[in-house]
Amino acid sequence: MQRLRRLRRTECLRRAFAETRADVRKLIYPVFVVWGEGRKEEVGSMPGVYRYSVDRLGEVADEMLSAGIAGTMLFGIPKEKDETGSGAYAEDGVVPQAIRFLKAYCAARGKDLLVIADVCLCEYTSHGHCGILEEGDVANDASLPLHARAALAYARAGADMVAPSSMMDGVVAAIRAALDGAGYTHIPVMGYSAKFASAFYGPFRAAADSAPQSGDRKSYQMDFRNGREALRELAADAIEGADVLMVKPALAFLDVVSKARENTRLPLAVYNVSGEYAMVKAAARAGWLDERRVVTEILTAFFRAGADLVITYHALDYAKWGDV
Ligand code: PBG
Repeated sequence: MQRLRRLRRTECLRRAFAETRADVRKLIYPVFVVWGEGRKEEVGSMPGVYRYSVDRLGEVADEMLSAGIAGTMLFGIPKEKDETGSGAYAEDGVVPQAIRFLKAYCAARGKDLLVIADVCLCEYTSHGHCGILEEGDVANDASLPLHARAALAYARAGADMVAPSSMMDGVVAAIRAALDGAGYTHIPVMGYSAKFASAFYGPFRAAADSAPQSGDRKSYQMDFRNGREALRELAADAIEGADVLMVKPALAFLDVVSKARENTRLPLAVYNVSGEYAMVKAAARAGWLDERRVVTEILTAFFRAGADLVITYHALDYAKWGDV
């Protein structure tokens, strides 16, 4: 008789035949960088996650270096917002400053971290949309040069990779052309290729102060009912020259991750977003879930589904705990 239980009998057997493992070296920890000095403020809906001013980034850099994770993805919160999100592409903006600081901080210690810069306008626009507005609508093509300028500012500051998250059509190609034209042919672009309009971004918008002042993002982010269209978005980014593709959010979209894995040979990232983190934290705090075991299970699932890189707020905790 086929007895599938034979290989599950002891922990030694189970460990020997485990097919997948969450890999700390493939985790990216998102960091919120806020203007000002001496600031380290916990995000209310994301316990354990902070907004840092540039001068205090050394604290989280130390944690990331000792955790042995791959690196970080940076989000900026500027002092002032305007109609065109100029803080996103200011050469001395909060993100370029953070990139320079982190690169120098690591270099001074003989170490390095992958520093990925998110490229979007929503944290920088007064209206909170991911592109500029024309007659109340997000103008796709007019927004592209602004994304390209932002990507270039981050590359000049020393970012290892840029990641456009606005879901504007053609944004990967626009950034690729701008980087190539300025001699940054070696800087990879990670597309937030299949990014869904999702209620799971709620806590992030509080952290990044980026909620749209009117309307929603459904005319540019994807409809969560669509799996086939997600494959079209992934293919479009690949054609535009993306080096890495992404599916976001992660947990409610593992079918998309798994299909994406089958449909592309490019590296695939998943973004385990703020609301997914907040749910686990809230239940753990209430004593309703075993946080370590749940996080291990969730992170392992991303790798099992085919992710190569996992962007997660659990990165530092998981690195400390290891598998349980
Ligand atoms: C910016 C952006 C968002 C997230 C990453 N980049 C918010 C949004 O699209 O509203 C969400 C990340 C998270 O929830 O953790 N466009």
